[in-house]
Amino acid sequence: CGICGVVGRRSATPLVFGALRRLEYRGYDSAGIATLVDGRIARRRAAGKLDNLKHVLDESPLNGTTGIGHTRWATHGAPTQNNAHPHHVGGVAVVHNGIIENYESLRDELVAEGRVFTTQTDTEVVAQLADHYLQSGLAPQVAAFETLKRLRGAYALAMIFEGHEGLMIGARHGAPLAVGWGEGETFLGSDSLALAPLVIRITYLDDGDWCVIRPGEVIFHDMTGQVVERPVQSVARLDAAVGKDGYRHFMEKELHEHPSVIGQTLQRVVDPVTREVVLPELPFALADIPRAVITACGSAYYAGYVARYWLEAEARLPVDIDVASELRYRNPPLTEGGLALLISQSGETADTLAALRGLRASGQHVMSVLNVETSTMARESDVVLGMDAGPEISVASTKAFTAQLSVLAALTIAMGRARGVMTPARQQHLMAALLDLPSEAERIFQLGEQIRAMAHIVAKARDVLYLGRGSCFPIALEGALKLKEISYIHAEAYAAGEMKHGPISLIDDTVPIVAVAPSTILFDKTLSNLQEARARGGKILAFTDETGAERLREIAEAVIVLPHVDAFVAPILYTIPVQMLAYEVALLRGTDVDQPRNLAKSVTVE
Ligand code: G6P
Repeated sequence: CGICGVVGRRSATPLVFGALRRLEYRGYDSAGIATLVDGRIARRRAAGKLDNLKHVLDESPLNGTTGIGHTRWATHGAPTQNNAHPHHVGGVAVVHNGIIENYESLRDELVAEGRVFTTQTDTEVVAQLADHYLQSGLAPQVAAFETLKRLRGAYALAMIFEGHEGLMIGARHGAPLAVGWGEGETFLGSDSLALAPLVIRITYLDDGDWCVIRPGEVIFHDMTGQVVERPVQSVARLDAAVGKDGYRHFMEKELHEHPSVIGQTLQRVVDPVTREVVLPELPFALADIPRAVITACGSAYYAGYVARYWLEAEARLPVDIDVASELRYRNPPLTEGGLALLISQSGETADTLAALRGLRASGQHVMSVLNVETSTMARESDVVLGMDAGPEISVASTKAFTAQLSVLAALTIAMGRARGVMTPARQQHLMAALLDLPSEAERIFQLGEQIRAMAHIVAKARDVLYLGRGSCFPIALEGALKLKEISYIHAEAYAAGEMKHGPISLIDDTVPIVAVAPSTILFDKTLSNLQEARARGGKILAFTDETGAERLREIAEAVIVLPHVDAFVAPILYTIPVQMLAYEVALLRGTDVDQPRNLAKSVTVE
């Protein structure tokens, strides 16, 4: 979820609505705005995307100069209008990002007192509790502080109060929140992106902080209630809004940006003259790193999965990897001074952020591969490896994924050299393969027709199996994830050799099998597995190169021939057609490609 707010002179609704647009990557299940109109709380809410709220606001505008807003990714309670934020109880309206873990016991206590709950959300207890304290005669800031003391879980909150124009309370506990300093007006937002076009100076709340906001004035408190100072920082103004440039969807546009994004990202990490990898200044030596732990969520996790194959094979570095939601609670024994490698497009994903904090606390050097370099993870990392993917709007990640891989490939080369296990010849060979990628990637778009033809087969299926081996196994995982996300067809990916231990029982002539199979040293092994699938009637749809195609044509229903590239960079190149296939299937199925149901671009709750 994303939250924002403003107190000031101008009409709050357009400012809050603009901030919500920039926060929509955090969820689009429902949205709402509350303002003070003649001292009374008034609100407009709508289920579904922000456009629905816009229609409501067009029909029934909302005045007032004090306002808060919310865009929701539902956790507790269906994404209905009634469960949409802001939650208004008596004298207070509240927006919330996070989960109040003790909401059931608080609700029971408030119900016992005679209070009536009207939603299924955890957030309503915050509004009920704050109103309870207001009713007992406390001033808004005291009531808010008393409320905060009772809450458990992770949250960021904003509150406004009836009869108190120009007053807003913000609180941060485990979920990010920032204050933006305007001219005679003050803003609150989940991230600097929300505030970027509005302000050039922001202050991040520390964890546990809460603040009393008035136009041009903010008093910060720590969790004990003590008044504290927090530094003001400068932020760059956000570029103009991003458009689709004539493409049907942002996803289509972003798919076409793969070659340029890989190129720009490589330019950033490779010296054009020496062809050496250039990383930002590190507060530790790569040579001293004893082992690495990689963590991320979703597609970013699969980028990390490829990096594990690379770092182990090419840099001889022991690597552990897990999804962030597991790693954060696994409490694994970690080697002091090890490298924690976090990967995230947004830098705001709650599980990855929590894993980052845990890894830092256990003495790891924290290196993050991020697309948003003003994000919370960027601020909490020792080193940020940026990529030049530009804003990625489509919920399903495309170009950010290949940009992540490009950075991780460069890191692998730097690590291999630093550890003294990669020869200069090997370095040159891998670097040459990497630098050829943008032009090889460009050639993939000539395969559009063939990919569309393959999509017709996949679009009819109920289940699809993706197979790959080695560093292309994570690309099979990525392909299956992408298909699920945007076409709603069930897909699973398996390491090709593992198929015979389970999913082979699902195979019949209705199950397409998508093989990610460049002609590497593992090709023969993959081919045998595909033969096993074919023998059970499975329809093989293969992505391979000319050498592989010669062997696959006999057993495959469709073969798409990609340019031959070195095995090291094959996972990057093969990502492109695999993602294009998911896009084409989604078009045939008529789904909402850029904002698929139930998903968020970045999930900011646990
Ligand atoms: C969501 C998105 C995925 C993305 C993942 C991680 O699940 O739908 O496309 O890979 O979050 O997001 P991050 O911003 O951390 O890379």
